[in-house]
Amino acid sequence: MSNPSTIPMPATLADLVHRLDQARLSGTREEGEEVGTVSTRRYTDPAHWQQEQAALFGQWPIVAAHSSELAKESALPFDALGVPIVLTRAADGRARAFLNVCRHRGMALVSAGGPEPAKAKACKALVCPYHAWTYELDGRLRHRLHAQTFDGFDPATLNLVELPCDEAGGLIFVKRTPGAAFSAAAFLQGLDAHLQWMGLPGMTVFRKVDRVYAANWKLTVDAFLEGYHIRVLHRETIYPFFADAYTVNLHAGPHQDSLVARRAAFEAFAPPPDRYALCKLATPTQLVFPNTFLIWHPDYVSLIGMFSPAVDQVRWVHTMLIPPDRTGEDWNAHWEKTFQLIEQTVFQQEDIATAVAIQRGLASGANTEFHLGRLEHGVLRFHRGIDDALGGTLVPCSAPARPPSASARRPS
Ligand code: FES
Ligand SMILES: [Fe+2]
Repeated sequence: MSNPSTIPMPATLADLVHRLDQARLSGTREEGEEVGTVSTRRYTDPAHWQQEQAALFGQWPIVAAHSSELAKESALPFDALGVPIVLTRAADGRARAFLNVCRHRGMALVSAGGPEPAKAKACKALVCPYHAWTYELDGRLRHRLHAQTFDGFDPATLNLVELPCDEAGGLIFVKRTPGAAFSAAAFLQGLDAHLQWMGLPGMTVFRKVDRVYAANWKLTVDAFLEGYHIRVLHRETIYPFFADAYTVNLHAGPHQDSLVARRAAFEAFAPPPDRYALCKLATPTQLVFPNTFLIWHPDYVSLIGMFSPAVDQVRWVHTMLIPPDRTGEDWNAHWEKTFQLIEQTVFQQEDIATAVAIQRGLASGANTEFHLGRLEHGVLRFHRGIDDALGGTLVPCSAPARPPSASARRPS
C-alpha cells in the first residue's frame, strides 16, 4: 500500500488547505451565501422515507465495508440496507456482492452470527447450511447434493443473484438492487484521490459498533456537516482542540469534503506534507453521499454508515480504522481508550443523544421547519442532494427555495 506522503496532495485538497490558511490569516469564517429552511417532515413523513428507500438506498452505491474487512477468499454478510447481502472476494481479488439467499429454497448462505457486528469468514466457497448447495465466490453454482434428483432444472440459471459492487479509495460500494455495473471511482468524483492521499486503503479495523437509535438517519448526517455546534455541544470533550466554526468545505457532486480547523492551525501553520500533519491542523471530514462519513482524527479514522431501517431510526455502524503500523498488543490499550472517548462519550452521549432528543421533539409540532444559518450551508447542500436524488418526487415540503451556493463565500 502506498505511503500517503509519497503521493502528491490532490489539487482540490491543496486548495482546501489553502482556504483554511486564508481563513485563519484573515480571521474570517467561510460562510454560505444564504440561509435556508428544511422541512421537519423530512424526518418524520413515512411517504418521504419510502421515497428515500426506493430512490436513494435502493438505487445508489452505498458504502458497505472498508476494503480491509474483506480479505481474499472470504465472505462478509451485510444487511444494513434491509435485504440480506453477502460480499465476497475470490482469489482474483475482486470484491463482489450477492443477495445472501440460496437459490434452492432461500436460506441465508452466510449468517451474521449473533449481536456483534459481522466479520468476514475465510472460505473458498459458499456452502448453504440447509442442504449444502455450494457456490463459488464469484456466485456460480458449483455443487448440489444428490444433483441427479433435480433433473429438469438448468443449473446455469441457479447462480447467486449478483448485485452491482465496486471498490475505490479503500471503500467497497454495493447497490441493493440488481442492475448495471458502476464505477466507484467515477461515483466519488475526485474524492477517491483524497482518500488515497490520506491512506485510507491501507488502514485496518480496530473496532466496530452497530446499533440502532431512535432518530431519523438525516439528523445524524446533519450533525457532521457543520462545525457550528462544536463550541457548545462538545464544550467539555473536543472543543478544547478546535477553533470556533472555522470550517472550509468543497463539494464533489453530492459528496462533501471539509476541513474543520483545530486550534493548532492558528498557533503554527505549515503546508502539511502528509496526513498526520494535516490532521494536526484540522479534522478532515468527508461525506460520501448519501450516508457515509469519514472523520480523520489525529491518528485514526472513523468510518460511519448511517442507515435507515425506519423513518424514526438510524442504524449507526461505526468502524474505527487504525494505521497498519500501529497495531498489536502494545497499541491495544491506547486504541481502546481512544475508541471509548470518541464512540461512547462524543458520538453517543453528545451527537447521537442530540439527534434522539430532536426526533422526540419533532412530534411536538413546535417546528414545521428548521432554520439554518450561513455556517450550516453544508447541511442545506446535503438536503438539496436528497432532492436531486429523488428526482423531484418529494412530498411537498419547505425545502430551501433556492439551492445553497455550490461554493462557499470566500474571504477576500
Ligand atoms: S436452501 Fe440452500 S441448499 Fe437448500
Ligand atoms: Fe458533533
